[in-house]
Amino acid sequence: MKLTFIGNGNMAKALIKGLMETCTIEVLGRNEKSLNILQKELPQIITRVIEDNEDITGKNIILCVKPYSLPDLAPKLSGIANSLYSVLAGTSIESLKSHIQAKNYVRTMPNLGASYLKSMTTLTGDEELKHHAINIFDKIGTSLWLNSENELDIATGVAGSGPAYLALIAESLADGAVKAGLKRKDAQEIVAGLFDSFAPLIENENPALIKDSVMSPAGTTAAGYAALERGNVRNAMIEAVSDAYAKALELKQKN
Ligand SMILES: NC(=O)c1ccc[n+]([C@@H]2O[C@H](COP(=O)([O-])OP(=O)(O)OC[C@H]3O[C@@H](n4cnc5c(N)ncnc54)[C@H](OP(=O)(O)O)[C@@H]3O)[C@@H](O)[C@H]2O)c1
Repeated sequence: MKLTFIGNGNMAKALIKGLMETCTIEVLGRNEKSLNILQKELPQIITRVIEDNEDITGKNIILCVKPYSLPDLAPKLSGIANSLYSVLAGTSIESLKSHIQAKNYVRTMPNLGASYLKSMTTLTGDEELKHHAINIFDKIGTSLWLNSENELDIATGVAGSGPAYLALIAESLADGAVKAGLKRKDAQEIVAGLFDSFAPLIENENPALIKDSVMSPAGTTAAGYAALERGNVRNAMIEAVSDAYAKALELKQKN
């Protein structure tokens, strides 16, 4: 399958790296210098500067610009794309339709894990594209079709933003280890290993049961866990997801 990326930033690069072995990739951007750097790094893809009258007829587009760039970009595009997959946070299908013409539309919310084929991607949109969309995004990890855009806006604050939240946890756990006396390099390696150990656990078990099976009476985990509760970490996580959802809704009003 041939895919045309519009935008060559962080998310586009993660997706391209994940998809380039199985798809033919064309990348359209506006910055020649950054396109040339990408082209050098990934010689098997095609990159070029977008034309002022770029014909997208029949193309399968993966739209990877920031939501606020859509009004600048849209007038440059002509024709009717075959499919439009948008990664834009808080940008509804209705808004996409008003800017770019395509036969079918899907909103997707991947994450940076795509570059290691480990994205958790949520999808929603025209049922006609459901099978194709799952097929594409399953190549770069796990994908889940949701039944409404509202659910996708909620998922944005979990899996789309999630790497940033988990990065904060990883960094602070390493800081704790360094504070207690471990070398930074060792602390980092231990935390990376911890995430690796945790991935199959969370895939197969309920989080509450994982916690119960680590925590022994009056033990080290119970002491550490109590500190997390004192620090209100649970509530902060709940609020992180609900504030991200609120921001997605706010963006929707603007876009
Ligand atoms: N980053 C994430 O983890 C993540 C996760 C899920 C979803 N998303 C979504 O992904 C989208 C992109 O985010 P990002 O983090 O990749 O942003 P980014 O790094 O700023 O990339 C945006 C890209 O779009 C290009 N662009 C902007 N206007 C353009 C135009 N008129 N024509 C052609 N190219 C244009 C930019 O070019 P320049 O280099 O010239 O600025 C840049 O390459 C956002 O809508 C975001 O909601 C991101």
